[in-house]
Amino acid sequence: MRVLVIGAGGREHVLCWKLAQSARVTKLYCAPGNAGISRLAECVPVRATDVDGIIALAKREKIDFVVVAPDDPLALGCVDALEAAGISAFGPRRAAAEIESSKIYAKTLMQKYDIPTARWRAFDRPDEAIAYIRAQGAPIVVKADGLALGKGVVVARTEDEAVRAVRDMMENKRFEEAGARVVVEECMTGPEVTVLAFTDGETVAPMPSSRDHKPVFDRNRGPNTGGMGAVSPAPGYTPAMATLCEKTIFIPTVRALAAEGRPFQGVLYFGLMLTEQGPRVVEYNARFGDPEAQAVLMLLESDLLDILQDVRGGTLARADIRWRPGASCCVVLASGGYPGTYPTGLPITGLPDDTPERMVFHAGTARRGEDCVTAGGRVLGVTARASTPEEARRLAYETADTIRFEGVHMRRDIGI
Ligand code: AMP
Ligand code: GLY
Repeated sequence: MRVLVIGAGGREHVLCWKLAQSARVTKLYCAPGNAGISRLAECVPVRATDVDGIIALAKREKIDFVVVAPDDPLALGCVDALEAAGISAFGPRRAAAEIESSKIYAKTLMQKYDIPTARWRAFDRPDEAIAYIRAQGAPIVVKADGLALGKGVVVARTEDEAVRAVRDMMENKRFEEAGARVVVEECMTGPEVTVLAFTDGETVAPMPSSRDHKPVFDRNRGPNTGGMGAVSPAPGYTPAMATLCEKTIFIPTVRALAAEGRPFQGVLYFGLMLTEQGPRVVEYNARFGDPEAQAVLMLLESDLLDILQDVRGGTLARADIRWRPGASCCVVLASGGYPGTYPTGLPITGLPDDTPERMVFHAGTARRGEDCVTAGGRVLGVTARASTPEEARRLAYETADTIRFEGVHMRRDIGI
C-alpha cells in the first residue's frame, strides 16, 4: 500500500516512523516533510494547505491512503476533497473538524449536549465583550474563535489584560478573520491532561493519557509555545478518572457530533482540566497533538496503519490496539528566541542513532547537502520510553544533552 502523510513536524515524523514499520506499507511519502522524515519517506515539496497540490500528488503517485495530520488542511476540507477525488483518507471531514476550527461551534455543542466545560459567552462586537469582562471580573479567558497557530488564547490575570486581548483580536485583527468573533470564558484551575482518542464516529478508543508543557520556560514561565515537551501517561490521571471522562466527555462528544450529522472519523484530542468540580473540557482538537503524539505513539505496540484504516472504515470496534506498559517522555529542543523570532539554517551536530526506545523526532529541520540544519522554532523532539517515568525522562535528557546547535533551548522540567 502506498501511503502519503501530510505535514512537516515532529507529529508527522512519529506517524511516518510508525507507518514505516507496517508490513503493508510498500512506499511512504510525506508532503512536505523534514530532514528526519526524509530518511523514512519520499518528501515532496507540496504545502499542507495546498489541497489541489495534494490531490495532484496523490493521483500522480497512485497513493492508496492519505493521512492528514495538521489542523489547517482538515479545516480546509482536505479529507472531503480527497474522498471526492476517489482517494481514501484518514482524518475528519471539514464539518466534523469544525470542533477545532471554531471554538464557538465547540462550546455550542458542549452546551447543547451537557458536556462539562467552562461557562462562556460568544461575542462579535468588542464593546459587548468588554462590558461582559467588566461585569465578570478577572481572572478570565479570551479566545479567538478560529485557528490562530495555538496563540489565540489569553488567560488574563486582570480585566485590563482581557480587554487588551479583545481589542488586539477584534479591532487590531491580530489573527485576521480568526479573531473576528471571540469567546470569553470562566478561568478554570486544576491539572491539565490530554487524551487523544481514535474514533470512527461510533466507537471511541482512548490512547494513554499525556501532558503537554506549553510555556517556553521552566515552571511554566514565559509565553506559550506549540509545546515544549510531553509525557505519557499524565501523572494523576487515575483509572477512575479515565472512566469518568469516558462517560461524561469522550462518548458524549462523539455521540453529539454523530447526532448533529457530523460523524467524526479520526483522532479527537480532548484537552481536559481536572477541576474540583470534576473533569471539564478546555479545548478540542481534530487531530493528534504535537508533541503529545511523539510521547504517546512511542508506546503503541500495534500496527498503526491497521488502526487508521479501521477508523476510516468504521470498524474500530474490531481493531487490535495494544500499548506497551511503562512511560515515555518527549523533550523539545527549540531555536533560541522561539516563540519570538529566531535564526534558521544553523548546523545540528551530535544526533545519535535512533533505537526503538530512544527516537529523535525532527520538527523544524532541513537538509543542506549532507548536513542537517535548523529550519523552525521547534527543531527536534527527543523521545524516550522506559518502564518508569523517571527512567524515560533520564534517557530523554541524556540524549538531548548530546545534541548541539547554536542557541539551543530546552525546558529542564518536562514531566516534573
Ligand atoms: P488552547 O490554545 O485552547 O489549548 O489553550 C491554551 C491554554 O490556555 C490551555 O492549555 C490552558 O492552559 C489555558 N486555558 C484555556 N482555557 C482555559 C480556561 N477556561 N481556564 C483556564 N485556563 C485555560
Ligand atoms: N500540543 C497541543 C496541540 O497540538 O495543539
